Amino acid sequence: MARSKIITRVDSQRPAQPGVNEDLFGFVPMVPVMVSCVSAEGRPNIIPLISWSFANRWPPKITIGICEGEYTPSYFVRASYRMILATGEFVVNFPDAALWEQMIQTGDLSANDPSVDKFEAAGLTPGRSLVVQAPTIEECPINIECVVREHLSLGSHHLFAGEIVAYHQYGEVVRQEASADVTVIEYAPVEGQSGKRLVWHSLPRMEDIG
Ligand SMILES: Cc1cc2nc3c(=O)[nH]c(=O)nc-3n(C[C@H](O)[C@H](O)[C@H](O)COP(=O)(O)O)c2cc1C
Repeated sequence: MARSKIITRVDSQRPAQPGVNEDLFGFVPMVPVMVSCVSAEGRPNIIPLISWSFANRWPPKITIGICEGEYTPSYFVRASYRMILATGEFVVNFPDAALWEQMIQTGDLSANDPSVDKFEAAGLTPGRSLVVQAPTIEECPINIECVVREHLSLGSHHLFAGEIVAYHQYGEVVRQEASADVTVIEYAPVEGQSGKRLVWHSLPRMEDIG
């Protein structure tokens, strides 16, 4: 038997003026990451974003989408957009749940304000990357260094495709297991730190509520 669903037509109109309703047409599953970058002058920055994807296998590439126009109070030209356009580099840092507050804080601030230092404001530690100039965020268990190979405007957001040039992980993987709704990765201890288990919920659950 076919399942019945509620279907609505999506209006692709961009907002005509600031302050209009910014709500999405519906819930879209989103996985936030923290992208770090650096200006051509050497000023580091962080932008949390949900518009990312592991987009290509050979060479491995990650895409990110960053707002490049002025639309509403929360959709403005990101400082990170200008920085990544200028340097052609970024690092995708995967926060764990313990970093939620810091992640939201870095999204509430913009480096368009010259006095903003998001690493300092959120108490995060910049780390040295292997290939790119942009720093890693050391508190994140996984950091992926990327060099921009392609980029294009999609409308409100600019899409950067970055080739993965270096991969940092919490420790050596000693166990990895994936099932329909959970992936578990166990990392061996690294000097001065404990072993850790990363638990990733791969698919949402639809639960009966009667
Ligand atoms: C969870 C989360 C997800 C976000 N996703 C995006 C995104 O995909 N693209 C984007 O341009 N901004 C996104 N933002 C908004 C930016 O992070 C925010 O505007 C930030 O202040 C931009 O900083 P910048 O001007 O220093 O680059 C997101 C914010 C949060 C908290």
